[in-house]
Amino acid sequence: MANSNYEYVKSFEVEDRLMPSTWIVVRIDGCHFHRFSEDHEFDKPNDERALNLMNSCAMAMLEEFPDIVFAYGVSDEYSFILKKTSQLYERRASKILSLTVSFFSSVYGFMWKEFFPNKKLKYPPYFDGRVVCYPSAKILQDYLAWRQVDCHINNQYNTCFWALVKSGKSKMEAHNLLKGTQTQEKNELLFQQFSINYNTLPAMFRKGSCVFKDKVEDIVKFNEDGDPVRRYRKKVIVDHCDIIGKSFWTEHPNILAE
Ligand code: GTP
Ligand code: MG
Repeated sequence: MANSNYEYVKSFEVEDRLMPSTWIVVRIDGCHFHRFSEDHEFDKPNDERALNLMNSCAMAMLEEFPDIVFAYGVSDEYSFILKKTSQLYERRASKILSLTVSFFSSVYGFMWKEFFPNKKLKYPPYFDGRVVCYPSAKILQDYLAWRQVDCHINNQYNTCFWALVKSGKSKMEAHNLLKGTQTQEKNELLFQQFSINYNTLPAMFRKGSCVFKDKVEDIVKFNEDGDPVRRYRKKVIVDHCDIIGKSFWTEHPNILAE
């Protein structure tokens, strides 16, 4: 082989296989999205189009990589859960992480015009990512609960903050008014000053988005009597469920089945 004198360089490549029999979680996060959202005039505190775009990218991920069993997204971040037994790229961390961020970033740009038909993408959006392995369903569920609690805390704060700013307060005044307030006080502020019932705001804003495969019923045809013929199939769906409590996981035992 002509190249054999150089082949020794391959020995510098280090093993980066992720621990076997663990759930692999890849979390991606938009880089400088504070600036990106300003430059593209996202609605404050939540831009429905931007969140739906993130969700569509996540759905494309699940279609492309069947080993992903669940994804959870909020704001500019998304977590992807690969099944315990996944052998995707022999569980090599750098492969799994790099393909996730590159695929997601690429779909985000690709689908932009579908969600923002009248807004030009001013520069390329990009994402960072990290990968962590979780050894038990309990710890994995706690991880997801942690992200959803974060969604709740941030969304409630941001909803109050922007309501105050839109009502004429400066950002500093709004910040000071909210400093040290508890959940209940924030809900009361929203209700009393702005007639906003926090619990009736869109679930996507309050709970974030879950993407997973679920059984859906399709009517495939109608028989001679005009009765519908139904078939069940698995389809990637987006829902805004509570994943802090136990009920979601008991109602969907297949998602984390080993
Ligand atoms: P890095 O991730 O460290 O690069 O910083 P970042 O600027 O992306 O901030 P971070 O990831 O901590 O937070 C995401 C930011 O994106 C939020 O603070 C918002 O400024 C912005 N953002 C995300 N979703 C929305 C949205 O729906 N509407 C608006 N207006 N801004 C959003
Ligand atoms: Mg970010």
